[in-house]
Amino acid sequence: MPKIVIYSFLLFFLFVSCKKQPQAPAYQSVQSMVVDSAAVVSPHPLASEIGIEILRKGGNAVDAAVAVQFALAVVYPRAGNIGGGGFMVIRDQDGSTTSLDYREKAPQSAHRNLYLDSLENVIKGLSTEGVLAAGVPGTVAGLLDAHQKHGKLKDVAALIEPAILLAKNGFKISEAEARRLNRFQDAFRKHNNTPNPFIKDTFIIGDLLVQEELAHTLNLIKEKGKAGFYEGVVADAIVAEMKNSNGIISKSDLQKYETQWRTPISVDYKNYRIFSMPPPSSGGLALGQLLKIVEGFPISDYGFHSQEAIHLMVEAERRVYADRATYLGDPDFYTVPVDSLLSSDYLTESMSTYTPEQASVSDSIDTGSLLIKESFETTHTSIVDSDGNAVSVTTTLNSNYGCKVWVDGAGFFLNNEMDDFSVKPGIPNQFGLVGAEANAIQAEKRMLSSMTPTIIEKDGELFMVLGAPGGSTIITAVFQVFLNVAEFGMPLDKAVTAPRFHHQWLPDEIIIEKGGIPESTQQQLLEMGHNIRAIERMAVIKAIQRLPDGSLHGAGDFRNPDDDVSGW
Ligand code: GLY
Repeated sequence: MPKIVIYSFLLFFLFVSCKKQPQAPAYQSVQSMVVDSAAVVSPHPLASEIGIEILRKGGNAVDAAVAVQFALAVVYPRAGNIGGGGFMVIRDQDGSTTSLDYREKAPQSAHRNLYLDSLENVIKGLSTEGVLAAGVPGTVAGLLDAHQKHGKLKDVAALIEPAILLAKNGFKISEAEARRLNRFQDAFRKHNNTPNPFIKDTFIIGDLLVQEELAHTLNLIKEKGKAGFYEGVVADAIVAEMKNSNGIISKSDLQKYETQWRTPISVDYKNYRIFSMPPPSSGGLALGQLLKIVEGFPISDYGFHSQEAIHLMVEAERRVYADRATYLGDPDFYTVPVDSLLSSDYLTESMSTYTPEQASVSDSIDTGSLLIKESFETTHTSIVDSDGNAVSVTTTLNSNYGCKVWVDGAGFFLNNEMDDFSVKPGIPNQFGLVGAEANAIQAEKRMLSSMTPTIIEKDGELFMVLGAPGGSTIITAVFQVFLNVAEFGMPLDKAVTAPRFHHQWLPDEIIIEKGGIPESTQQQLLEMGHNIRAIERMAVIKAIQRLPDGSLHGAGDFRNPDDDVSGW
């Protein structure tokens, strides 16, 4: 072969290999770390770093949380957002607690049959993809309200500026982000007619993701506050997307959006006090019920992942998730019987059919009728600052990249949170039970959630901050990680990485993480009448534990390779 041909081949291979050679981004995740004073655990190292920078500049945990959330809207576009919503639980250093609900709302023209055809059958995909799936976004209002009421740094611009720079200058994407972006290319092309930074033949690790339109939107928020998002050109761009397709969010929906400060659910478990998100999230209430149920059993004697412990926890979950499907919805529209559901009389009655030997049957649990089907794609951040203020915040677009519609000219994905409503309520199940009226679609109502941002005290002192993405498995993951520490004596990182299991009443099965429960224990559970199904992974916890000497142990979760702990 002539030399010139050989050289050409060599040059060609050199070119191809250079071009395709993955370039690792200049950041690395640390998934477990003990620090002296302050810690941020978020789903992305660049966001954690920004949180820590804000703390170093004298900001408190709320300031850091706001900055981290704006940064996640840039570096974690599949769930970090300004086009979605979330919940924040705050515990001040003086022990006072509050929670902020910035969940999306149904547009004013939404109604209970929005996703049904003329025969009242669900139209597939309508509540999950495309603009009709989007609720009115709450994130921008939520972050600005949190800062205004509980932030320490006066100037909110300082909290948005780092995100603007990341969007304008770009950042190198991680391998996990590249994989996800590639997975959703077809959906992005289907729902977007114009080019955008997320549409590309193939993404690889180290690709620079520049988001100029998002930088511009963030800049408007920096300059004009809420009006930079809910009015003016950004509102125009959202409404234009609605008009391009079958969407219903109007300018008036955007202008009317308001957050709600709510009293957290507070539940005592032995010498711990748990503060978590009240309705319209089911998270805090369900977690409280689960803990109150198992409190009366010697669960630490049963042992971690023993058949006795798993059976007890699963039977509690079966009953609590049945309650969730029936009684829980937006408290501004439906009276959620919070106190009754947490009362010991009610929980004792609920467990009266429990036996340690035999699985119950979900169909015999006397309550509502709908399945839980939230997406696994949400995101959580836990923060403790050097004064001991703590923030636990979970945000979501619902599915990965929400409804897949990227707002042209404004640079962000819209959520598909409308799918968290009961799309077809009031239909009796096989026993004639009618469930989920509490979560039926109504104009301006908030859809039920499983997000469980949680802060825990031990003997009156800050003990743990935790939460997770993971749809309906969030609640049971928070439940298990807390018990792993409090009852099974695990260090936090082991408690977080330990395999998990989950029961949500219907379908009547325990789902377990593949290989996570010993075969012999599974066999015992099957013999008791349980059904078991293995899946890849469940919720992805991000937690901070305050150790007895006052230091902080931050733990991310291997289930998201980008989870990161930063601190000092
Ligand atoms: N969209 C997930 C949740 O709110 O639980």
